[in-house]
Amino acid sequence: MRTLTLALAVLALTTQSAAARPVLDIAHRGASGHAPEHTFAAYDLALKMGADYIEQDLQMTADGVLVVLHDETLDRTTDCTGPVKATTLAEIKQCDAGSWFGAKFAGQRVPTLDEVFDRYGTKARYYIETKSPEIYPGMEEALLAALDRHRLRTSVLIQSFAPESLLKIHQLDPALPLIQLTTAGARLLAQLPLISQYAVGIGPSMGDVDADTIAAAHAQGLDVHPYTVNETADMQRLIAMGADGMFTNFPDRLRKLLGKRQKR
Ligand code: G3P
Ligand code: CA
Repeated sequence: MRTLTLALAVLALTTQSAAARPVLDIAHRGASGHAPEHTFAAYDLALKMGADYIEQDLQMTADGVLVVLHDETLDRTTDCTGPVKATTLAEIKQCDAGSWFGAKFAGQRVPTLDEVFDRYGTKARYYIETKSPEIYPGMEEALLAALDRHRLRTSVLIQSFAPESLLKIHQLDPALPLIQLTTAGARLLAQLPLISQYAVGIGPSMGDVDADTIAAAHAQGLDVHPYTVNETADMQRLIAMGADGMFTNFPDRLRKLLGKRQKR
């Protein structure tokens, strides 16, 4: 009985803080716990589950097209092999990006960023990562051009582990909201003042975050979006600590905790 009372109290506290302060449900690579990452199947599902943002990791093809894929190579998530950088879009479009996850997803393709924008337009918000920008010169300009083609500059958060990439984007458009991803661990606190000069938030690994780190980030005007949070207990813990959102492969679990999606 005591355990039940305690559990109800924690749930009430979590729901209360979520009601007072919007917490973003960020579908990490789409609803990638349920469907193959970075495919329309994963994005469709994430939006149906009530995610606030769908995440895209960007790579660039040999012919200079931005595609949405986590790895620099095709090996893990398609039936093709080799670096994206050395493969044309036409070749990548031959690859099956769904079968590795389950037979019912056979035929899913690696989407281009333009195709993602075409499909969801202003009905979605996009949390876009410049991946390995050092091997893809011009990636940042290509991203901004895609945003302009679809008039989506106000529907995005842009993230990167590479400060150089974010600083470049900040120079191109100081109004674009940027998130500095980090693996800094204990060194993170010392980096916050510098990050706050160009970014609106940080994306730390969930293991690097405690209430003090979140408070310190907030004191610098930075939101905190930890990755990758898949267990309900961790979601509750991070919400109670003051996280402003989180990346999850299971946007349905977080939505269940947060309640009905807040209007934007
Ligand atoms: O972008 C947040 C999180 O996705 C960073 O890690 O490797 O999944 O891109 P990764
Ligand atoms: Ca990512």
